[in-house]
Amino acid sequence: MKAKKFLLAKRPTGEPKVTDFEAVQEELPPVCDGEILLESVYLSVDPYMRYMSESLPLGSIMPSTVIARVVESKHANYKVGDNVIAAYGWRSHFVVDPEKPFSAIVGMKQTKLQILPDFGGVPTSLALGILGMPGVTALYGLTKLTQPEAGETLVVSGAAGAVGSIVGQIGKILDMNVIGFAGTDSKVEWLKELGFDYAYNYKKISIKEALKESAPCGVDVYFDNVGGQISYDVFSKMNTFGRVSLCGAISSYNDMGDTSKPPLAPAIQLPAIANQLSIHGFLVTRWLNEWQDGVKQLLGYFKKGKLKYRETITEGFDNMPQAFIDVLRGENTGKALVKANL
Ligand SMILES: NC(=O)c1ccc[n+]([C@@H]2O[C@H](COP(=O)([O-])OP(=O)(O)OC[C@H]3O[C@@H](n4cnc5c(N)ncnc54)[C@H](OP(=O)(O)O)[C@@H]3O)[C@@H](O)[C@H]2O)c1
Repeated sequence: MKAKKFLLAKRPTGEPKVTDFEAVQEELPPVCDGEILLESVYLSVDPYMRYMSESLPLGSIMPSTVIARVVESKHANYKVGDNVIAAYGWRSHFVVDPEKPFSAIVGMKQTKLQILPDFGGVPTSLALGILGMPGVTALYGLTKLTQPEAGETLVVSGAAGAVGSIVGQIGKILDMNVIGFAGTDSKVEWLKELGFDYAYNYKKISIKEALKESAPCGVDVYFDNVGGQISYDVFSKMNTFGRVSLCGAISSYNDMGDTSKPPLAPAIQLPAIANQLSIHGFLVTRWLNEWQDGVKQLLGYFKKGKLKYRETITEGFDNMPQAFIDVLRGENTGKALVKANL
């Protein structure tokens, strides 16, 4: 059967372009005994794809985690219609032996596909959002690394995105004073609906002035999704022995390959030293052993109505490159996904 995939055709300079990716048709191998044929249903669109595009060899498949449906099976434990989750990249279809770990993406660790857990009637797409990687990143990146306490002040940057919107809500579950920064007025409105105590459009205000209003006693915990000037300004307002979870630095991803420019992020060392901060960079993969416990906790919050979500869904597998460009431009609120519609 004929399948489609997207390869990295050119090294992006600055903001990626649709032409940096090449759509390719391929003839899939036949499904042999023990194998299954998967068809993509939802593909995750994530900022990390931008910095991976700096190092992936040209011609490589672009990475993504995918919710896929079994459309042909020669494996006794998988039947047509079952849903799985698998990291096989920007592909419409994939033939795999579910017993064997595989690495469809250059440089990524081998993984096995997983049968999609039964979350009890919730939308399957949540396995890529609040009940998946962004959820676990938010939950453990906040609670395991920053010792958050009731009454403390938490700042979240990238607050209306997949990870940030969950971090802020967990901050409220923990009874913290939660402040979020996001890039549009409508995102700010949504953050207020989610229960953030304060939310600001960072494109319109001064971060330092906003923190004077919302954190008069300083910031105790900072969950950083963006880096750059926003983070410098937050670091400068942190209390002595404040804690920082360094999750991402999206403000610099488009400039990573440009060695002619000075680093985008102003030095954070001085406020980090002056305020004696504990700073934890992390990758969510460090918690693979506790992943399902985290998902259960998140599902519990969701079922109690304490965790709300939004998804920005781009329709059509062919629009994968545009959906990726849009996430870097801030067009998404909540989790960015492509619904393949194959
Ligand atoms: N460490 C880990 O294991 C791990 C795991 C998952 C994600 N991450 C990181 O966490 C961050 C959030 O990921 P996500 O999946 O939740 O993405 P996301 O926040 O849903 O989407 C990215 C958002 O970044 C914002 N943005 C883009 N350019 C920006 C800039 N120059 N300055 C400030 N904000 C900018 C945009 O929102 P605005 O409209 O608000 O600008 C955009 O919507 C990313 O940095 C990602 O790499 C890390």
